[in-house]
Amino acid sequence: DATDRTEYTIKAQTGKVDILDGMTTETLGYNGDLLGPVLQFKKGETIKINTINELDQETTFHWHGLEVPGEADGGPHTTLSPGEKEQIEFKVTQEAATLWFHPHPEGKTSEQVYKGLAGLIYIEDSNSAKLEIPKEYGKNDIPLVFQDRIFDEQGQLDYKAVMNEDGTIGDTLLVNGTVNPVLPVEKEQVRLRLLNGSNARNFTFKLNTGESFVQIATDGGFLNEPVTLNEVTLTPSERAEIIIDFSQLNSTNDLSLINEDGSILLPFDVSNQEADSLKTSEKLNDFAVTDEEENMPVTKNIELFGMMEHVEINGKKFDPERIDFTQEQGVTEVWEIYNKKDMMGGMIHPFHIHGTQFKIVSRDGVEPKEYEQGWKDTIAIHPGEKVKIAIQFKHKGVYMFHCHILEHEDNGMMGQIEVK
Ligand code: C2O
Ligand code: CU
Ligand code: CU
Repeated sequence: DATDRTEYTIKAQTGKVDILDGMTTETLGYNGDLLGPVLQFKKGETIKINTINELDQETTFHWHGLEVPGEADGGPHTTLSPGEKEQIEFKVTQEAATLWFHPHPEGKTSEQVYKGLAGLIYIEDSNSAKLEIPKEYGKNDIPLVFQDRIFDEQGQLDYKAVMNEDGTIGDTLLVNGTVNPVLPVEKEQVRLRLLNGSNARNFTFKLNTGESFVQIATDGGFLNEPVTLNEVTLTPSERAEIIIDFSQLNSTNDLSLINEDGSILLPFDVSNQEADSLKTSEKLNDFAVTDEEENMPVTKNIELFGMMEHVEINGKKFDPERIDFTQEQGVTEVWEIYNKKDMMGGMIHPFHIHGTQFKIVSRDGVEPKEYEQGWKDTIAIHPGEKVKIAIQFKHKGVYMFHCHILEHEDNGMMGQIEVK
């Protein structure tokens, strides 16, 4: 593991981008007009970040999926006023993964993310360094942030006008902040690091040919081995890393990733260039839910309920003054999360916990599918479903847990846990 110290400066700022033809959209971004840089951390390294708020409103800097002390986590308690700066410091203690960062001010998270505040974080470690997987950034290791948005006639992201209490669903897909993207690839294995950065929309990624690919990582790390799949579904804030082997597909004309409804998510432009073929490692990680974790009694119950503005957790809305749970640092507990149906049947809530990664023990009493047998920080809970997770916090502090439909979060579908 690394022992370096690296310092970054991350500014939240306003921007202007020609996203649509001939129109200039007012946006928000980190160190730029829209979205943010990909921060590349190494396990073991100490990271200092100078966070600067250059917006005309309060914001926070939240590191989604990163195991950091509560005070560095950037939840709604740590707001920066316009013009304010704050330096945070933490050590990277977790394994290789694709994480992200975004703002978290109370009641304003959805709008700020919608307008463009989001960036990626890669963690690399000694395991990822030795694995045989595509690693050439931008060539065969591609960051992909999928977000749906609505532009008004002037090309603006008028959040207030389109905001929906159950989560704002857009009619225009942005991939890494662009419309109508095309990804050029060679005939080789290409690793796609997928982030669903939408406020509320779920995506199911599949090839338009129906051919399979492998998933190699979940939110918080590698799966034990590549899992062959025909599709992967991500709810807001979930990530997956997949590898598509373009040298093995039947035809590479008109190839694209499509969504459940057949709409195009990402077309590929496959060159005839045959790149050196690589054999993906068959063993990627050592992840396991232990017998002890499987047999542990449930010590926390979380009930998700509602829709629109009537969303709540355990019958309550978020109260910044109230600590809902406590847990001891370094002690594993099993939580049961239940998505209680309503008369309308209910909806999927992507449930997220700050400051740590957890393991799925079971979904309705059944062991999770292979592609969920890895570290997670967000999990889709289906209506009526009960999910058990084993969770431990490495650090102390106050952390949020919430639905990652950002409008649900802003409507109070959030609670707090204090780790002591
Ligand atoms: Cu993506 Cu409260 O976080
Ligand atoms: Cu988070
Ligand atoms: Cu929700």
